[in-house]
Amino acid sequence: MVYMDLDELGWKPVFEQWSNAKAAKFGEDYAEKLIEFKDKWLEKVLSIKRTNCNELVKTSETACVRSMTNLFDAMTGKLTKHETEESMDDFMSYIEKYFIFAMIWSVGATVDEFSRREIDNVMRDIDSQFPNQDTVYEYYINPQKKNWDEWSGRMASSLKASNKQFHEIMVDTVDTVRNRTVVQQLLDHNNQVLLVGHSGVGKTVLIEGILKGLDPLFNSFVINFSAGSSSDGLQAIIESQYDRRAKNKFKPKNSKVKAVCFIDDLNMPRVDTYGFQPPLELIRMHLDYAFWYSRTSTQVAKHFICDLQILSSMGKPGGGRS
Ligand SMILES: Nc1ncnc2c1ncn2[C@@H]1O[C@H](COP(=O)(O)OP(=O)(O)O)[C@@H](O)[C@H]1O
Ligand SMILES: [Mg+2]
Repeated sequence: MVYMDLDELGWKPVFEQWSNAKAAKFGEDYAEKLIEFKDKWLEKVLSIKRTNCNELVKTSETACVRSMTNLFDAMTGKLTKHETEESMDDFMSYIEKYFIFAMIWSVGATVDEFSRREIDNVMRDIDSQFPNQDTVYEYYINPQKKNWDEWSGRMASSLKASNKQFHEIMVDTVDTVRNRTVVQQLLDHNNQVLLVGHSGVGKTVLIEGILKGLDPLFNSFVINFSAGSSSDGLQAIIESQYDRRAKNKFKPKNSKVKAVCFIDDLNMPRVDTYGFQPPLELIRMHLDYAFWYSRTSTQVAKHFICDLQILSSMGKPGGGRS
């Protein structure tokens, strides 16, 4: 077995594998276009991000490119070319918009407010398809027009007096609208989601709102992390939302199709002497292997936790103190 350092390997093999899979599914022409879009957009944006941008939480390029392909797949899953109405070129320029959008909300989404201007500049140099006002972050693809439209147009236009208590009123802003749209898309396509931002910007209310609107076939539950959270505590809470179906197989409680676990304040668990945050290691283990080990069995026993989707939010990394 040969182990490669992820940094040396870089993001290109990930992209290549993805475009090869597209070639097998939609044909060589489609895949070639994706490679063209990569040369045109992705290379340049990644390069400016590497040199000129700051991030709240450092991300790896490979992970960002993987997020981009996930988001692209989530959004274009149902898109097909209308045989008669549309030429191949028109269709591909529509697909290009989704490529750009997926890139903005993965590679471009992790940088801070100031660095977004840099990315905006470089993207406007490449191509002038965005309207002149504001940054490229202010636009989404309107499927009716098949073109860019402002997010602000999707905000509820007035605050209707409702029978809600004052503290329950959620005010739509450009940020809530676009974050909700992207998170919902990812959630619907079984991607794991992490929202990062300073405290008080509305991450918790946003996700709680999304969980309220979740399909009744899904079981959702919330775990609030604190400095004192432990990995066995986390495992116990998640397993309590599960039924044991076979010796080592766990399925969501009440025969639900999927369990959506919202972990709030993911950064909080205290950093231990060795530099680890054990609850996060447990989550990482689940993401990588889909199982963890039994804490009670006297033998080594795996618990496969099936159909678990993790949605989380955090501020600055590093653990809380209390
Ligand atoms: N768009 C919004 N409309 C109404 N209240 C909001 C909005 N965004 C944030 N708040 C309020 O701000 C406070 C902090 O939000 P919260 O979701 O807890 O932030 P975070 O989880 O990012 O630290 C909450 O009391 C919440 O009700
Ligand atoms: Mg919060």
